[in-house]
Amino acid sequence: MALYSEKVMDHFRNPRNVGSIENADGIGEVGNAKCGDIMKIYLKVDHDVVSDVKFETFGCGSAIASSSMATELIKGKPLSEVKKLTNKAVTEALDGLPAHKLHCSVLAEEAIGAALEDYYRKQGAAV
Ligand code: FES
Repeated sequence: MALYSEKVMDHFRNPRNVGSIENADGIGEVGNAKCGDIMKIYLKVDHDVVSDVKFETFGCGSAIASSSMATELIKGKPLSEVKKLTNKAVTEALDGLPAHKLHCSVLAEEAIGAALEDYYRKQGAAV
């Protein structure tokens, strides 16, 4: 069996929503101290819905695929749903990741969480 699913390879080769957003409403940046990979998520929010999302990931293929899939999963979704996004959902949407690569999907969950926190902080409200 191939180590990586077709979906992982697809999102790694053709990542969706790459880049940054000028005047983003929320920005989250997280890193993994062990592997040194860094993920940054930019959110644009309109009436409590993610109207746009972009990412910049300096990391491994699984981190890029996880960022790409995670942004696809939250685009157009209400913040109440975005808050509940787990790395498990990202991994499942990618048809799985090897066990030693699961932390790459955790980075996506954390980056989105950090971007949401930043958004709420800018709104002057607690998460
Ligand atoms: Fe660390 Fe993938 S190896 S994010």
